[in-house]
Amino acid sequence: MAMPRHLLRTLDLGPAALTRLLDLAAHLKADPFSRAGVLRNQSVVLYFNKPSTRTRISFETAIARLGGTPIAVGAAELQLGRGETIEDTARTIARYARAFVIRTYGDQDVARFAAASSIPVINALTDRHHPCQSLADLMTLRERYGSLKGRRVAYVGDGDNVCHSLVEAAALAGIALAVACPRGYAPAAEIVAEAQAMARHTGATIAIGDDPAAAVAGAEAVYTDTWMSMNVPESERAARLAAFAPFQVNAALMARARPDAIFMHCLPDHRGEEVTAEVVDGPQSVVFDQAENRLHTAAALLATLCD
Ligand code: CP
Ligand code: NVA
Repeated sequence: MAMPRHLLRTLDLGPAALTRLLDLAAHLKADPFSRAGVLRNQSVVLYFNKPSTRTRISFETAIARLGGTPIAVGAAELQLGRGETIEDTARTIARYARAFVIRTYGDQDVARFAAASSIPVINALTDRHHPCQSLADLMTLRERYGSLKGRRVAYVGDGDNVCHSLVEAAALAGIALAVACPRGYAPAAEIVAEAQAMARHTGATIAIGDDPAAAVAGAEAVYTDTWMSMNVPESERAARLAAFAPFQVNAALMARARPDAIFMHCLPDHRGEEVTAEVVDGPQSVVFDQAENRLHTAAALLATLCD
């Protein structure tokens, strides 16, 4: 499959396009300025309607490394907040910039931007997807294990945007993924079904359950994410803390995975909630490799979509 025009979800990539991106990301990690001409004299607009540390700063840095200028705007700064339509905003930005990176709530809004946009649109996190994170996750797994096909990965916790994108990434990469979420917090059934359809072509397996111990048994990587994503109302906190408590990734749960299993988290983490300090700060944790790889995968993505 050819490279898509936009990246709205991980499954927009086919297995071959994904491999090409990961190869380029590894190349750019070793030789960061080798594509310095790709965005020369051009700008990329970053619109963030939710907070961000890693995504915004890694994209801005990646744009600079590719020779371009990042223009970051918050929700209150665009006329969008005063009623200008998504379509008119997208058409306008396309007259100035080479690409548009957007973090917001509704996936429908990002789809509308993409439909109206003649420049590449990149989803930098929505309520349902976080494709850029999943690219860095796969890069980190590949660095650790040399290959992705058949790797055993467990995801424990909320079936949220990060989980959805990991499910899709696993399907593309041929990973054996076991997901454990409390009842009522499983990943969306239609996303799982679409990933499973892809998995039939790649040899991946995607198992969704509610038993953390079973999910991590024999895993080479254990992944979790916050129990309180940015789109979750504060009013849900108490119910969520109670429902998710048995899903905490702690030393006892890690001990059920392979002895050399890595611990993964997209960050920011909440020590004492989804993960204990001894795990996230311990020797098995690769969370800052994941954070660093956000930069190299962002650069690879922009270099590919904008070339
Ligand atoms: N992992 C991630 O997307 O982090 P930020 O929210 O800091 O961008
Ligand atoms: N699931 C989290 C990821 C943050 C990077 C959220 O959406 O808030």
